[in-house]
Amino acid sequence: MTYLVVGGGGREHTIIRKLKESPNVDKIYCTPGNGGISKDAEVFDVAATDIEGVVALAEKLKVDCVFVAPDDPLVLGMVDALNENGIRAFGPNKKAAIIEGSKVFSKELMKKYGIPSAAYEVFNEPKAAMEYIREQNTYPAVIKADGLALGKGVVIAENVEEAENAIHSIMEDKIFGNSGNNIVIEEFLTGPEVSVLAFTDGKCVKPMVSSMDHKRVFNGNLGPNTGGMGTISPNPYYTDEVAKECMEKIFLPTINAMNAEGRTFKGCLYFGLMLTPNGPKVIEYNCRFGDPEAQVVLPRLKTDFSDVINAIIDEKLGELEIEWYDGACACVIMASGGYPGKYEKGIVIKGLNEDGQVDGATVFHAGSAFKDGQFVTNGGRVLGVTAKGKDLDEALERAYEAVEKIDFSGAHYRTDIGRAYKQQ
Ligand code: AMP
Ligand code: GLY
Repeated sequence: MTYLVVGGGGREHTIIRKLKESPNVDKIYCTPGNGGISKDAEVFDVAATDIEGVVALAEKLKVDCVFVAPDDPLVLGMVDALNENGIRAFGPNKKAAIIEGSKVFSKELMKKYGIPSAAYEVFNEPKAAMEYIREQNTYPAVIKADGLALGKGVVIAENVEEAENAIHSIMEDKIFGNSGNNIVIEEFLTGPEVSVLAFTDGKCVKPMVSSMDHKRVFNGNLGPNTGGMGTISPNPYYTDEVAKECMEKIFLPTINAMNAEGRTFKGCLYFGLMLTPNGPKVIEYNCRFGDPEAQVVLPRLKTDFSDVINAIIDEKLGELEIEWYDGACACVIMASGGYPGKYEKGIVIKGLNEDGQVDGATVFHAGSAFKDGQFVTNGGRVLGVTAKGKDLDEALERAYEAVEKIDFSGAHYRTDIGRAYKQQ
């Protein structure tokens, strides 16, 4: 089979490397890709959100399947457009991708079908939202933009000023554009967070091995939120007992709810969970693989990834047994100096071989470019240095050993990935 992977980050690099392991895959294309991806796939310069451009590219390349990896093209309906043109595609259609595209939708879905989540209210104008905040007078207050916001649409306000600033910038200054037309204000929950990505064809749901993201930029879970500074799999908090409870109370009810709404979800559904003192609750749904969760989950997949993709598209997932490698996997993100704020681009990355790799680990490229025979930085999160091991300690040791071999001016990374949770 030939694949066109849409996207250009560490998640897409991981997907491509996994597809390359399959004896059934002959050729992989990617758009727009990045420097590291260009060593594993033929890359093009069509933007990931350019629906017509991607349809035209898929037709030109005559690919057997398009894998739409990022949230925005899925929410915009890229899979629908591909299917309308007779092209096979992996990912939810627009009607199903709304589960990530609108927080108001997902909160209402959970309320309607009794899926555990934080209590909430929806507001479509700032005055009522502020009145509610003052009336509640409970902090932290959780304020969320309704639509997509590059993972930055959630504010945990510690006091009235922070809440006011958040409401003002989201609803009036429109820092996330129309994504801020509505906001959700919800109850602050506490407990360890778990990411569970699940394969589903709408008929059955098969959760992947669990993982844990590290969203804050600095050690000790301090500083602003990022797209994710590192991940581990499995998540030490996700016991078999918790998994069973999540299946009964969250995963199956969500798949059934989407079917009942006429929004059958096919693809990878991401459950962002919090294990609260009152049981597991959904913090968010994503309609795609997490980034950098994919980097630690997919390397542990034993079953042929292309077979899984096809089983989902053909709605035959129930017939496929999905197997995983034991042990653990860890990913440490090396980011540009200044990230998640402003940062420079074009800085030479030292220590990588000609394929963009180092010995002893796999380097998933996120924000890199390949220019004049060198890898240079080209984004906030630059590299996801990833290693497997017989247990978490071994995986972390190998990942950090590899990180030590790589350097670029201003590079920063957390040194407590896979350790910080012990301090929570
Ligand atoms: P999200 O973009 O929805 O994943 O939210 C980003 C982060 O904000 C989550 O990973 C949580 O750490 C935190 N968060 C979101 N909602 C809540 C909540 N209701 N209570 C506590 N923390 C939350
Ligand atoms: N790592 C969080 C996400 O992909 O949304």
